[in-house]
Amino acid sequence: MNYENLLITVENRIGTITINRPTKLNALNKTTILDLHHAIKDLGKNKEVRVIILTGSGEKAFVAGADISEFSNYTIAEGTDLAAEGQSKLFDYIENLKKPVIAAINGFALGGGLELAMACHFRIASDNAKMGLPETSLGLIPGYGGTQRLPQLVGKGRAMEMIMTAGMITAEEALSYGLVNRVVPQVELLPVCADIAQKIIKNAPIAIAKAIKSVNANYEDGKNGFEVEIKSFGKCFGTVDFTEGTTAFLEKRKAEFTGK
Ligand code: COA
Repeated sequence: MNYENLLITVENRIGTITINRPTKLNALNKTTILDLHHAIKDLGKNKEVRVIILTGSGEKAFVAGADISEFSNYTIAEGTDLAAEGQSKLFDYIENLKKPVIAAINGFALGGGLELAMACHFRIASDNAKMGLPETSLGLIPGYGGTQRLPQLVGKGRAMEMIMTAGMITAEEALSYGLVNRVVPQVELLPVCADIAQKIIKNAPIAIAKAIKSVNANYEDGKNGFEVEIKSFGKCFGTVDFTEGTTAFLEKRKAEFTGK
């Protein structure tokens, strides 16, 4: 399927989505948000794809935020709908996807761009990347989960400072905060992400999906993560991949997982 503002490739079991609005620093307009939803849904269903990498086109920006020109005249109701629809269609959708989604932050990740990266399961940044939630400088607050996910990742105090100052931090600072897992030169960003993806692809897909669900449960209201873990752990015993994984170990060979 072709998308107006996205480039999609599938190679070596990795689906890569590149947000492609370089003249607007890949800002997320409504079309792009909807396209991202459909692209992630498609790659989520594609049996060839085991890991998704999300990045931005060009050397300057991952995503410089939600498209400010689109919502500058919005009313209270329209603003509320914008956040609610974006959260359910894209940000929560990524977080709860059964396949790992890695954010390859290749430049500015601001506002909705940082929120998008934070909805991914983890983040790798290039050394030129800059991150921040500048919404309060526009008279807004983050609306795509930023007030919730940033404190989860960097702690409440740092999140409060970042949100209230509307400032940007460097990739190195983001690394020291735990916001990104690694910082690499820009040319190595996608190869490093692909390398990590290949390590994930060697493992059992259902187990990976259950791990995502169990880790996420810790952050969901009314969920007991330990109970979710117990149930998910138990279900793994009913999979073909569990039999294959344990048999392969005992037979001293590499496991061939089928995702069943
Ligand atoms: N929404 C809409 N358009 C955006 C955008 C956004 N979030 N971020 C950048 N753009 C557009 C600019 O308007 C400009 O378009 P134009 O050439 O038609 O005027 C183009 O992208 C290039 O951006 P520009 O500001 O000229 O680049 P810069 O290198 O001088 O500055 C940034 C880069 C990222 C510091 C700056 O673009 C910026 O502050 N963007 C907004 C960040 C933000 O507040 N995001 C949160 C939104 S809720």
